Amino acid sequence: MRLDVAGDNVLERIAVLFGLVPAPLVQVSFGMGYARAIVAGVRLGVFEAIEPGAWVDGAQLAAATGCHPVGIEVLANALVGFDLLRRKDFKYALAAPARRWLRRDARMELVDAVDFLGYCLDLTANLEQDVRSGDIVRLHDREHSPAFWQAYMRALATFTKLGAPEVGHRLGRAGALKRNGRPIERVLDVGGGHGRWAAALCDRVPGLRGEVLDMAPACAVGREILAQVPGGDRVVHREGDFRTDEWGRDHDLILLFRVLHNATEQEGAGLMASAMRALRPGGWLAVLDAAHPGKPGGDIDASAGYNELFFFVISGARAWPDHTMRDWMRAAGFTSLKSARLLAAPEVLLLGRKPT
Ligand SMILES: C[S@@+](CC[C@H](N)C(=O)[O-])C[C@H]1O[C@@H](n2cnc3c(N)ncnc32)[C@H](O)[C@@H]1O
Repeated sequence: MRLDVAGDNVLERIAVLFGLVPAPLVQVSFGMGYARAIVAGVRLGVFEAIEPGAWVDGAQLAAATGCHPVGIEVLANALVGFDLLRRKDFKYALAAPARRWLRRDARMELVDAVDFLGYCLDLTANLEQDVRSGDIVRLHDREHSPAFWQAYMRALATFTKLGAPEVGHRLGRAGALKRNGRPIERVLDVGGGHGRWAAALCDRVPGLRGEVLDMAPACAVGREILAQVPGGDRVVHREGDFRTDEWGRDHDLILLFRVLHNATEQEGAGLMASAMRALRPGGWLAVLDAAHPGKPGGDIDASAGYNELFFFVISGARAWPDHTMRDWMRAAGFTSLKSARLLAAPEVLLLGRKPT
């Protein structure tokens, strides 16, 4: 997936075709504009203020959002240009992508995810300095407001909603949800935060119970989220540090989902070794992270390259290439390694089994 520069009319399309458009300039100005305007639209309630199918004028939008009349009009106009609103006779309506993704009542809504990406904009504000010095205060070592933790956990929970059916299916197909032909009983979700992965599995596997090991503020939000999702009543949160605290013993399945991109190479290898110790013989480790395919040192796509940079800047780590994570699993002793690129998200699922 990538953002690209495209012309709005025939002349612009010809200019793009002949390489006459200064793409880097367009990317910087519009990239910044898209990000800020969409986050603002969500946070200020623009998309909730316009009912699907309705047309509202600037004054109605200002009243509904409590914003300055000119401020909300220029924001709405930017969102028209970015194809999220439509404008006719000085009135605004929702365009299809806003109806589908940016309202709470939409089946596929991404409201919390966009809100959290607003925090990520701020987290990358010192990018040049971070790249120059490599001196980074890591995301989970910083103090964050309760609002940040709410946005963080709810965003990750939203992404989980999209991927859970596919991940459950793939775990089932690999045999990771059965033990001697019977449903497994214990899953440990390391850095599981919101707990939705464990809850989705508990909802799928009769009798399964889940435990989430995470930092206290993540557990606090996770408990609220789990009170509202199927399977959530069979998952408990345990506050702790997965680098130093006990993981327990004899788990059937351990999830290490979206954790390694915040881990250094040494920590990543260490987490695999901890998983090996905490599983029962024949148990499975499942790793989910940003997909980063490709040969070592070779070409790289926009999502893998940007994820490397993003996780370096926020955590002093990086999105690790798939083959690196597989190497860590192998080195820790996991066998029957499998990997699959998810259809629901640009992520890879790696599975490995503790030998019996
Ligand atoms: C990107 S989130 C992933 C959440 C969830 N596993 C998912 O896939 O959506 C990373 C999680 O790791 C947790 N975490 C980071 N460092 C941790 C540590 N040292 N001990 C426990 N949890 C930690 C964070 O609080 C957060 O919930």
